[in-house]
Amino acid sequence: MKRLAPSIENPIPAPFKAVILRLSEVTDMQGDEFLKLVRKRRNIRRFKPDPVPEECIEKILEAARWAQSGANAQPWEFIVVKDKKTRHKIADIYTEQQKQTWDIEKTRIRELRHRAHIDGPPASPPGFKDAPVLIIICADPRTVQATVLITHFLHNEGGPDAHFLKNMANATQILTIAASAFGLVSQWVSVNQVTEAPLKVLLDVPEEIAIHTIVPVGYPAYKPPPPYRRKLKEIMHFEKYDRSKFRTSEDIYEFLLALRRKTEPAYVIKDKSQE
Ligand SMILES: Cc1cc2nc3c(=O)[nH]c(=O)nc-3n(C[C@H](O)[C@H](O)[C@H](O)COP(=O)(O)O)c2cc1C
Repeated sequence: MKRLAPSIENPIPAPFKAVILRLSEVTDMQGDEFLKLVRKRRNIRRFKPDPVPEECIEKILEAARWAQSGANAQPWEFIVVKDKKTRHKIADIYTEQQKQTWDIEKTRIRELRHRAHIDGPPASPPGFKDAPVLIIICADPRTVQATVLITHFLHNEGGPDAHFLKNMANATQILTIAASAFGLVSQWVSVNQVTEAPLKVLLDVPEEIAIHTIVPVGYPAYKPPPPYRRKLKEIMHFEKYDRSKFRTSEDIYEFLLALRRKTEPAYVIKDKSQE
């Protein structure tokens, strides 16, 4: 059998060399450039009305098409909405959802409330109404049957909807990163049942198809506050879980309080200097 281990004369074994060569043939992007792109992507909540190039939208969706999915089920479909009237109707429907969100949110202590809902539902219509394109990410839950059956029963997999939702999140993530790669910004807008039902009527979506997320795409109408992520050394473990990094329930409570303070500027525009 051929020896695969690297040696001084041949530091990269031949089969790996071939793979590396092939990879560099298909992509010009280096790892660090990808890292830069991932860091650059931001969730933007207000958009300029300027139109975006048609070919960009197709390329963004082409990227999403290549998302990973359990057993390659590919549940996603995308509705591209550019018509202004339809976009505004979608924003109105979403505003209704926000009222219900507040009804639930107000049961929390004020310090722990989501920053978009501190003392009531957002006062103004959602900023995404001005985005030139709304991508409505639809999903066919029937495709989850592609996955091995046991997945639908195991609690640690998250139950019957888990694979389906993970698949959809993958596509949404790739879509938003792709938008960033094409010099655009985007928002991940969650859709709950209050929004989904009237949206399906508005967009003539069949009963069997679910609406997963709305992703507005365009150009930012403000400069977002600096992003926040936990430090790598806090979340990286070597060989086994490092219990010195384990957070107690009190730590998590403090984390959530601090998180609310950190993320507040992303939701509450206090003055024009943040624009
Ligand atoms: C599952 C999921 C649901 C989200 N829902 C919303 C949403 O409904 N509205 C919104 O503005 N952002 C939403 N986001 C975006 C996050 O709030 C955002 O990514 C996070 O605050 C970090 O900000 P950044 O992406 O700019 O770094 C969602 C993101 C994920 C992954």
